[in-house]
Amino acid sequence: MTKERVVVLDFGGQYNQLIARCVREAGVLAEILPYDTSLAAMLADPRQLKGIIMTGGPDSVYAPGALTCDPAIFQAGVPVLGICYGMQLMTRFLSGQVGAGGGPEFGHTEITFAAHPLFAELAAQEKDEPGAGRHVWMNHNDAVLQAPPGFQTIARTDRCPNAAFADDQRRLYGLQFHPEVRHTPGGRQILRNFCFSVCACRGDWQMSDLTVSLVDDIRRQAGDGQVLCALSGGVDSSVAAVLVHKAIGSRLTCVFVDHGLLRQHEATEVMAFYRETLGMNIIPVDAADRFLGKLAGVTDPERKRKIIGGEFIRVFEEEARKLGGADYLVQGTIYPDVIESGHGKAAVIKSHHNVGGLPPDISFKGLIEPLRSLFKDEVRRLGEALGIPRALVWRQPFPGPGLAIRIMGEITAERLRIVRESDWIFREEVAKAGLDQAIWQYFTVFTGVRTVGVMGDDRTYDHVIALRAVTSSDAMTVEFAELPYALLAKVSQRIINEVRGCSRVVYDITSKPPGTIEWE
Ligand code: XMP
Repeated sequence: MTKERVVVLDFGGQYNQLIARCVREAGVLAEILPYDTSLAAMLADPRQLKGIIMTGGPDSVYAPGALTCDPAIFQAGVPVLGICYGMQLMTRFLSGQVGAGGGPEFGHTEITFAAHPLFAELAAQEKDEPGAGRHVWMNHNDAVLQAPPGFQTIARTDRCPNAAFADDQRRLYGLQFHPEVRHTPGGRQILRNFCFSVCACRGDWQMSDLTVSLVDDIRRQAGDGQVLCALSGGVDSSVAAVLVHKAIGSRLTCVFVDHGLLRQHEATEVMAFYRETLGMNIIPVDAADRFLGKLAGVTDPERKRKIIGGEFIRVFEEEARKLGGADYLVQGTIYPDVIESGHGKAAVIKSHHNVGGLPPDISFKGLIEPLRSLFKDEVRRLGEALGIPRALVWRQPFPGPGLAIRIMGEITAERLRIVRESDWIFREEVAKAGLDQAIWQYFTVFTGVRTVGVMGDDRTYDHVIALRAVTSSDAMTVEFAELPYALLAKVSQRIINEVRGCSRVVYDITSKPPGTIEWE
């Protein structure tokens, strides 16, 4: 079992779990702790504290009430790496200077790295990760104007003279850029270098350790209670269910709710799949009329999510009552859902239905969310480690609120038909082109816009369908997929010919950030 760990002190940045995930990828246990955890508390854990990473955060270190840490961490002899806000806080504590100086920097930036163990192997990585030794991703207003005494500058950009610094004596380091995001091509190598060259980790952590610890946590939380699981047919709820099943066996009952917002043929396919391959006890609930009734006339995306989230919980409560009560509800919430619903200090982007949408009077003792700190690809690897069939593990993600957030404005039977039929065509053609595994998510959106067209000799005034297809590994950052024109042309032609009410098809070429995957 794991004997060492790196602590990630959470100052509320959007990408903090990505840091933990890069550390796990390096085979090192990453433990995320609140920003103000004392050094003594960190040292109390029997697993050796090999290093501390201070994350980014939304504040300025000089803002009133700015988050701060236990200054003892800088004297403990344990290596500390400050990222963005973390670097600025370190600077402030150690008598350097932080300020607006060279102005804000957002996005891709050219950087010059000095020769330093933190940046080892970057040049060698250029052939697999172009830009590894030259580009980073910045996201800051303030920067370090003057490094603290004892520190050397080890990287600079045009606008940021202290893009990275180091005090090798005290083993304290700072990066102004974000190594954890994919837009910094050498970032993962830098974090690996920190773990191995600076902290001298051995790398004794693996995915199967995670299964053991998650199963233990579930047993502890559930005690001898009865547990209900909300199965959606997606990867996340399936992996969550299998974990809980492993932990508590027959005390788990799964419920599959058809909220009327599923894709074409999905309800039947999903039920068949669970029954045949997972062998779990599943109760199907057809609640389409109920959900669509509540959603009638609702146009605001956040309200849609809240209504769906609230209704989901009610349905489960009712099922629980029929079963004679359940103490806990399992949900397949994963980390991007948590962070984008405004976890800790991070800003709210969207309230995902299974996080922000929970009604306050929920009558379960609690939620079991074993995947809360994991990213999608980690969930998939965990699913494979648990022996879940590949077809299920590699299914494309589908959001809990389903087609509701792919129909702009009001949800009607007609709009559902259009989005279902067009989505089916798109999926069919992507699969025929052999691209279904290579693309993270691909679907159609009912835009709510009508445009003029000509069909035959007649003028039409029909709906615009948008195609969305993205590549990603974690849904936090995505690129639009570069689909072949011939495929786009085929899909467009088929949708216009086969789906009544559509006269135009457009392709969404927005990355995330600044866009999101879903349109609402
Ligand atoms: P966005 O649109 O936020 O999507 O870039 C990131 C990932 O999350 C899915 N998604 C949701 N999943 N409830 C969910 O369970 C939601 O409310 C929700 N909104 C988005 C989305 O499909 C993508 O995989």
